[in-house]
Amino acid sequence: MYRTHTCGELRLADQGKKVTLAGWVQKSRKLGGMTFIDLRDRYGVTQLVVDAAAPAELVDAATSLGREFVIQVTGTVVERQSKNPKMPTGDIEVSIESINVLNKSVTPPFTIEEESDGGEDIRAKYRYLDLRRPPLQRALALRHRLAQEVRNYLDGQGFMEIETPYLIKSTPEGARDFVVPSRMNPGQFYALPQSPQTFKQLLMVAGYDRYFQIVRCFRDEDLRADRQPEFTQIDCEMSFVEQEDVLNMFEGMMRSMFRNALGVEIPDPLPRMSWYDAMDYYGSDKPDIRFGMKIHEVTDLVKGHGFSVFDGSEYIGAIAAPGCAGYTRKELDALTEWVKRPQVGAKGLVYIRCNEDGTFKSSVDKFYSPEDLKGITDAVDAKAGDLVLVLCGARRKTQTMLGVLRIEMGNRLGYRDPKVFAPLWIVDFPLLEWSEEDGRFYAMHHPFTAPKPEHEKWFYSDRKEDLERVCANAYDFVLNGTELGGGSIRIHNADMQGRMFEVLGIGKEEAEYKFGFIINAFKFGAPPHGGLAFGFDRVCALFGGQETIRDYIAFPKNNQGRDVMIDSPSLIDQVQLDELQIKTCVKE
Ligand code: AMO
Repeated sequence: MYRTHTCGELRLADQGKKVTLAGWVQKSRKLGGMTFIDLRDRYGVTQLVVDAAAPAELVDAATSLGREFVIQVTGTVVERQSKNPKMPTGDIEVSIESINVLNKSVTPPFTIEEESDGGEDIRAKYRYLDLRRPPLQRALALRHRLAQEVRNYLDGQGFMEIETPYLIKSTPEGARDFVVPSRMNPGQFYALPQSPQTFKQLLMVAGYDRYFQIVRCFRDEDLRADRQPEFTQIDCEMSFVEQEDVLNMFEGMMRSMFRNALGVEIPDPLPRMSWYDAMDYYGSDKPDIRFGMKIHEVTDLVKGHGFSVFDGSEYIGAIAAPGCAGYTRKELDALTEWVKRPQVGAKGLVYIRCNEDGTFKSSVDKFYSPEDLKGITDAVDAKAGDLVLVLCGARRKTQTMLGVLRIEMGNRLGYRDPKVFAPLWIVDFPLLEWSEEDGRFYAMHHPFTAPKPEHEKWFYSDRKEDLERVCANAYDFVLNGTELGGGSIRIHNADMQGRMFEVLGIGKEEAEYKFGFIINAFKFGAPPHGGLAFGFDRVCALFGGQETIRDYIAFPKNNQGRDVMIDSPSLIDQVQLDELQIKTCVKE
């Protein structure tokens, strides 16, 4: 037996026990004649001590241990002289009698402790060492716990976990596909699934009624803190359901995950907000409702006062940042520069200071009387001491900019505490989104999403204004400003699916080539169905209080989509290329 206990287990009650531990040497230090060693494993750290009076051999062995050596020790549990209340094992130490070095280690390139001194790149290269650190072990333990909760809950609700293939054909999520060449079919390629969307719908046609899968998805898109090229979904689909059934089922799943993994109770029922309200009041389809600072439209109040920038704008909106009236000129200039950055994209920023004495000071005083300014600040619910920030331009674009500014001010004011959870559903999405650039409609969710039955009349109209009005029974689960999941009630009839492709400008031939199998399946008695998928990595990160998903994935990619540990992607042998009958033409 390598060990009698783990390194996180021993307490004062174990005093006097003879124990054997195994683990990694986190550090060792000499103090007076004594040698102290911190021994670490997945379960914790235990302090080992070698007494000055111990045999010289043992003292030598203890002092020659390097960081990350793997050792096995035997000794007796004793009460510590100076206890460490920060460590669960901090009341005891193990006075050791023997050390067996199981394996040596070269000096690791960074410290393997709670906080590391290693930069991101070096830790990514030695990911297996970084994974020894407690924060990452906690992250992966949380991920494991949440996956168990998902399985327990869904199994309890009669869902079947069914695997779907990875080597498939393009799916409809709209990012770029990763493709895999087929040796046996030269010149032909599989696509890796962006999600199992079409397969789960086919499982409904096949009568499986309730399906789920914790499944890897692949999307070749630009990466961000909450995006990886391969990520995991909790993918679900149900038959004979309406939107309400789906929302209740998965609200229940989230509730049990919050309760059982974090001990947090979320509101019952969860708040719901229409996509239109989310855009109008929060400038985002994933509003962070941990704080107010809502966007208010002030177009009618500010137009027509001779300020040409406002007079020529379709929309003017504002937020009130509490307690920020004291922003200095310099701070306001910096904030103006901040909104002008390409990531925000505003042309400028107008401010109104609501001074504590009831007066106002704005950057456009020339055009507005104090009464005008009071009218505007009242409309924004601003109080004395607040700073009102105004942006103008095209409606949705300006709302989006105000949404970004709102989040920035929320961060500055400390309103975005990661330990506070404010989940909600966004519902009533438009079915279609018009692209000025391409002069065509795109599906806002994906082309299998059904229009609301009461909007079908517009769906079959050829007028752009009618099509723009069509809403879908589509929904997103949003937590703290992040979209955790989304789904919809699907089209389940071949004619309506055909109409959808027509609206999207996908010709009959192309639809047949890409999705013929599903249109065909719908001809064989497809039940009404709907579902959704949660981004599991995002769920884990937010539950863990982080926005970056990388730490919740054992072996993630960096921002360039590279795994720097295994050095991938990489070139392949000419022999392999020849077999695949592929020629590359990448310039050196
Ligand atoms: P959607 O494309 O909205 O829907 O994806 C569902 C959820 O997956 C997560 N997600 C990601 N997480 C990490 N990295 C990425 N690159 C990434 N892309 C998406 C998000 C998102 O909410 N088939 C539909 C679902 C359905 O209709 O049932 C789909 O995939 O959290």
